[in-house]
Amino acid sequence: MEDFQNILTEAKGGVLYLTINREDKMNALNFDTLEELKEIFNEIIDNKEIKAVIITGSGEKAFVAGADISEIANLNIVNARKFAENGQEIFSMIENCHKPVIAVTNGFTLGGGCELAMACHMRVATANAKFGQPEVNLGIIPGYGGTQRLTILIGRGKANELMMTGDMIDAESALQLGLVNHVLPTKAEAMAKAEELIAKIMSKAPLAIGMIVDCVNAVYMAEENGYQTEANSFARCVKSGDYKEGTSAFLEKRKPVFKGE
Ligand code: COA
Repeated sequence: MEDFQNILTEAKGGVLYLTINREDKMNALNFDTLEELKEIFNEIIDNKEIKAVIITGSGEKAFVAGADISEIANLNIVNARKFAENGQEIFSMIENCHKPVIAVTNGFTLGGGCELAMACHMRVATANAKFGQPEVNLGIIPGYGGTQRLTILIGRGKANELMMTGDMIDAESALQLGLVNHVLPTKAEAMAKAEELIAKIMSKAPLAIGMIVDCVNAVYMAEENGYQTEANSFARCVKSGDYKEGTSAFLEKRKPVFKGE
């Protein structure tokens, strides 16, 4: 993968590590960083060598402290809509990616950063992580899908509280609310936990993982009937070689070897 200005990329053992790298700005997401994310995810979808993705923030202080406020200070009604739709489109690409995407949230995970983390399939936080949607302090609201994903993840009452107060919560509270999957003391340990999850998922049938992504996302796509998506996806799985391999391996008492086809 080519080099990017705002995101470090490193591929290791089928896992692509993405590090949002604007440490002096708390890894705030500016337009260029979002464009890079879009380009990278387009490549992830097509590149057979990439089997999973871990996203983190540079340094110990922040995962991502939001959209870059210097770029949102002068929006008008036309470009504000485009601003939100652009972010929504990129975060939907992440959410709909058929390869597992885990956010390792180290430090401040605010605004667009919390929205980025929520667009990933799972979140592993460091103990010093802080979560929040502080947009209300700027006279705006979350615009990259946060009003929807936060409500789905933690429920209406708590989502309203976080968004209406703009309060930050710590990692333990985020764990209790179901906003994160795991909390580990340090970034190294959080990364190791994410790698353990990824390794386990990578040993499973890739087509089935992709179908789970589609079905879970269908839960909250009003235009889709989630049950229908599930039945269709289930049927698609049984057409695959991996299905034959998985069931035969169980019956033959051996480990399956999945090929993603
Ligand atoms: N956009 C642009 N720049 C940001 C930023 C953001 N979302 N978050 C932090 N920064 C910048 C600061 O302006 C500062 O830059 P400077 O050194 O050039 O002045 C640098 O990152 C360090 O931030 P600072 O505020 O000095 O660190 P802190 O430890 O005192 O506070 C935060 C950390 C995250 C609590 C604070 O920066 C903050 O509230 N950020 C905005 C969060 C937010 O509202 N996000 C939603 C945006 S829609």
